[in-house]
Amino acid sequence: MCMEKHGHDEEEQPKPVVLITGCSTGGIGHALARSFAANRCRVVATSRSRWSMADLEHDHRFFLQELDVQSDESVRKVVDAVVNKFGRIDVLVNNAGVQCVGPLAEVPLSAIQNTFDTNVFGSLRMIQAVVPHMAVRKEGEIVNVGSVGALASGPWSGTYNASKAALHAFTDTLRLELGHFGIDVVNVVPGAITSNIANNALANYNRMPEWKLFKPFEAAIRDRASLSQGSKSTPSEEFAKNTVAAVLKKNPPAWFSYGHYSTFMAIMYHLPLFLRDFFLKKLMKC
Ligand SMILES: NC(=O)c1ccc[n+]([C@@H]2O[C@H](COP(=O)([O-])OP(=O)(O)OC[C@H]3O[C@@H](n4cnc5c(N)ncnc54)[C@H](OP(=O)(O)O)[C@@H]3O)[C@@H](O)[C@H]2O)c1
Repeated sequence: MCMEKHGHDEEEQPKPVVLITGCSTGGIGHALARSFAANRCRVVATSRSRWSMADLEHDHRFFLQELDVQSDESVRKVVDAVVNKFGRIDVLVNNAGVQCVGPLAEVPLSAIQNTFDTNVFGSLRMIQAVVPHMAVRKEGEIVNVGSVGALASGPWSGTYNASKAALHAFTDTLRLELGHFGIDVVNVVPGAITSNIANNALANYNRMPEWKLFKPFEAAIRDRASLSQGSKSTPSEEFAKNTVAAVLKKNPPAWFSYGHYSTFMAIMYHLPLFLRDFFLKKLMKC
């Protein structure tokens, strides 16, 4: 929405304000922040710790805020700070997310809850805080970062895939409900993109209990944490550049999927279940 909806003339149009969650260096959110800034947006880059985005600290294009999407208070504080400073939020990007690897029959419910608290309720918490400000102006755009994992849920990442499937469903409903208030809603669906997701997933995985029934699958389960970080993964800068171009269109697409595995997963989605199961079992050594 920024460039085209707001025009190119800096004197006529204020710079669009884009609020992004999960902007730690090395991740997709950080690359999105830089790409929005390169497209003349004012970027509110947020992460749980300011330290994790220290390289953006002295760049005037960024307004840095600490934000934990699991906390009502943190979300309210940041949204208030942004509205006080800029008077509006034009684009909200719900990027913050966590992977959770393990067999569903044994993953502790607390780990499943933490995943949903971040990926699903964290995004909705942001949306509920930001929408009133957009609705008043009858203008705005919400971008939810889903995952191709939701298109064909395979072994060992059922928690993450289910959380992203929930987010996709929320996104579809929001697009219809918020259209009345001039708010566009975009589902951004990354394929395999270089980031810290595997390192963070492995750190979480190392805190899991020892598997019982699934002990023989230990190596395959652990490997699932790094699946998106192979040699052919799409660089986060390339992903961000293309995503930002789509998001800033006058009429942004309802669905934007990009990156390694995105075509493969779209095909998997349409396969008959017996074929999809066959490929996923082979791929995940299940
Ligand atoms: N990379 C891929 O291949 C891929 C594929 C499909 C979808 N995605 C999605 O893309 C998004 C970005 O992931 P990524 O690949 O860039 O992974 P990443 O490098 O691990 O980045 C995730 C970001 O989310 C933040 N985060 C986690 N919990 C949070 C919380 N409670 N509050 C606020 N921020 C929180 C992390 O902060 P900390 O640094 O503090 O942990 C980090 O900044 C996620 O939604 C992910 O599911 C990624």
